[in-house]
Amino acid sequence: METLTLRRPDDWHVHLRDGEMLALAANFTARQFARAIVMPNLVPPVTTVAAATHYRDRIRHAVRPDHGFTPLMTAYLTDDIDADEIERGFREGVFTACKLYPANATTNSAAGVTDVKKLSAVFERMQTIGMPLLIHGEVVSPEIDIFDREAVFLETTLGPMLKDFPALRVVLEHITTEDSVVFVSEAGPNVAATITAHHLRIDRNDMFAGGMRPHAYCLPVAKRRKHREALRKAATSGNHKFFLGTDSAPHHKSEKESACGCAGIFSAPVAIESYAQTFEEEGALAKLEGFASEFGPQFYRLPLNDGTVTLERTAHAVPDVIEDGHIAIVPFHAGESIHWRLVD
Ligand code: NCD
Ligand code: ZN
Repeated sequence: METLTLRRPDDWHVHLRDGEMLALAANFTARQFARAIVMPNLVPPVTTVAAATHYRDRIRHAVRPDHGFTPLMTAYLTDDIDADEIERGFREGVFTACKLYPANATTNSAAGVTDVKKLSAVFERMQTIGMPLLIHGEVVSPEIDIFDREAVFLETTLGPMLKDFPALRVVLEHITTEDSVVFVSEAGPNVAATITAHHLRIDRNDMFAGGMRPHAYCLPVAKRRKHREALRKAATSGNHKFFLGTDSAPHHKSEKESACGCAGIFSAPVAIESYAQTFEEEGALAKLEGFASEFGPQFYRLPLNDGTVTLERTAHAVPDVIEDGHIAIVPFHAGESIHWRLVD
């Protein structure tokens, strides 16, 4: 049987949720990844060192010990967050990075930042201490077309921010456009991007294939085919600026299949298999290890993982729905067959 062995990969952007969803989400991620950057968009958001420490404890408690999983925590930036609190969390090893959500850009972002100018002191401090800033890069103005919100953000917000803070270490999260690929490629070595498994496979047509497809809806929303092609090229290029971040974001099936369905795609159960399938389609399987296991830790200045994972070339069916107690979530690739399988 054909196999593919990789250094253990990490997920540089994931939503593990809290409460009853946490154990399910966290164990799917921990089965696949050694470490993950955990998003702080809980209700209420994770804005203090104490809240992040408690959340990290809940994650550690929820994950099976044999997974050997390390959650890396983030601080949720608000208009009035205190730079001293952020620096203290970073120095104590609680906060790995800060997350910038423009207010109301996405799920649980109402407490996010209304104007990046209000964060100057925080960005200044982060630049000084070398703390990464993870950005949901979309403008929120209702007059800007939803398919243009990422490209407009680069021009109106991120470009000027990087002029003011040229050494700030920035990860542009879950990029969806050719514009972002070009922006990040041309920026300095302090600017990188994560790419999800789903944005490498879906384009905006997939949301409307024969009817409305709520399980293909996430934010930033999938764009035209040409953008997906640019993302596939970037991910498989071997360029160290682009690395793996699933943005796996579980929502209850009933909340996706609704008159106002939630944004988010739950890819954690099949993430590395999905990336492998995409890289193989691009004739770039040899580039997967760098993208999944090396470029992320290099950017974050963390050691590479020890140990390996093995994928087997075996077709396996992805379930239509993943159920646990009264939780039901439709995973990415639901009802499809994937031809790589992670060996436990
Ligand atoms: C995420 C969520 O559900 O928390 N949703 C999504 O579509 N990606 C939030 C986010 O990362 O934008
Ligand atoms: Zn996310």
